[in-house]
Amino acid sequence: MNNFKWIGGAVLGAAMAFTSVTASAATFGFSQVGSEGDWRPAFSKDMQDEAKKRGIDLKFANAQGKQEDQLRAVRAFIAQQVDAIIIAPVVVTGWDQVLAEAKAAGIPVFLADRDVDVADKSLFVTRISADFNLEGKLAGAWLATESKGSCKVVELQGTVGSAPAIERKKGFEAVIGQFPGMEIVKTQSGDFTTEGGKKVMEAFIKSTNNLEGICATFAHNDNMQLGAIQAMKEAGLKPGKDVQMISVDYVPAIVKALDAGDANASVELRSAIGKFIYPVIEEYLKNPTDLPKWIVIPSDLHTAK
Ligand code: AHR
Repeated sequence: MNNFKWIGGAVLGAAMAFTSVTASAATFGFSQVGSEGDWRPAFSKDMQDEAKKRGIDLKFANAQGKQEDQLRAVRAFIAQQVDAIIIAPVVVTGWDQVLAEAKAAGIPVFLADRDVDVADKSLFVTRISADFNLEGKLAGAWLATESKGSCKVVELQGTVGSAPAIERKKGFEAVIGQFPGMEIVKTQSGDFTTEGGKKVMEAFIKSTNNLEGICATFAHNDNMQLGAIQAMKEAGLKPGKDVQMISVDYVPAIVKALDAGDANASVELRSAIGKFIYPVIEEYLKNPTDLPKWIVIPSDLHTAK
C-alpha cells in the first residue's frame, strides 16, 4: 500500500508531459474483463478512442468475464510481439505463469483498473487505477453519517475474487466496524450486472420480510443497484426513501436515479482514464525505469441533491 503515487504526483506529472508529443507508432495489446454493466463499455471505448488519438495500434480483446480467455489473449499478444500488454484482470489470482511468460519475452505488462495477487511484483510494471478500498470507505463513511451510526445493511457484492469486490467490501467493513450499531446482515454476489443485482435483491426481499429493519443497500457497482431498485419497486418498496441506496461508479443511469430520488449516493469511478494510462506506458517504453507499483486515480463521492 505504501508503494504508490497519486495521479498528478511527480511520476504521472512527468508522464503527462508526453501527452502532447507526436503520435506513437507503438502496438499495445489490451485484455479487457468484459462488457458487464455500464462502466466497463465506457472504459473500453475510452481506451480505444484515446489510442486512436495517440496513434497507438491497440489490439483489443474482450474476455466476456472469463479468465481463461484473458490468458489466451495475453499469450496471443506475446506471440505477436506487441510493445506492451495492458490487462484489466477479471480476478486477482491465477496470473503468475502468464506474466512470467510475458517477462521472459521482454514485454512489459501494465495493470489497468483491477489488481492481481502475485508473489513476484516484478512481473508487472505498475497498476494505474482507482483505490477500491477507499471507495468502500467513502461509502461506509457516508452511510455512518446519514444513519448516525445505526444501520442494518444488505450488500450486493461484485464478481467473486475480483479486486473491486474484495477491496470495496474491506473498505466498507473497516468503516462500519467502528460503529457498534452498524452491520451487514445479508451479502451476496450479483456479479456486477443489473440482472444479478435484481435477482439478489429479490432474494433479500423474500428472506427479510420485505426488507423489514433494513436501513441501507450497499452495492459494489451502480448496475447491481439499478437492478435492486427495480426489484424493490416491483415489491412495492420505495428505494432511496424506505432504504438508503449507496453504490459505486456514478454512471449516467445512477445519476438519473439520484435525481429521481431512487438512489442516495454513488462513489465515482472514472472511466475516461486512457489519458492517464497511455502516457505512463509511452514514457516507460522510452525510458524503462522502475515505477511505483500503483498509480492512483482519485475517487469522488456524489450524493442526491
Ligand atoms: O473494476 C471496476 C468495476 O468493474 C466497476 O465498478 C464495475 O462496474 C465493473 O464491472
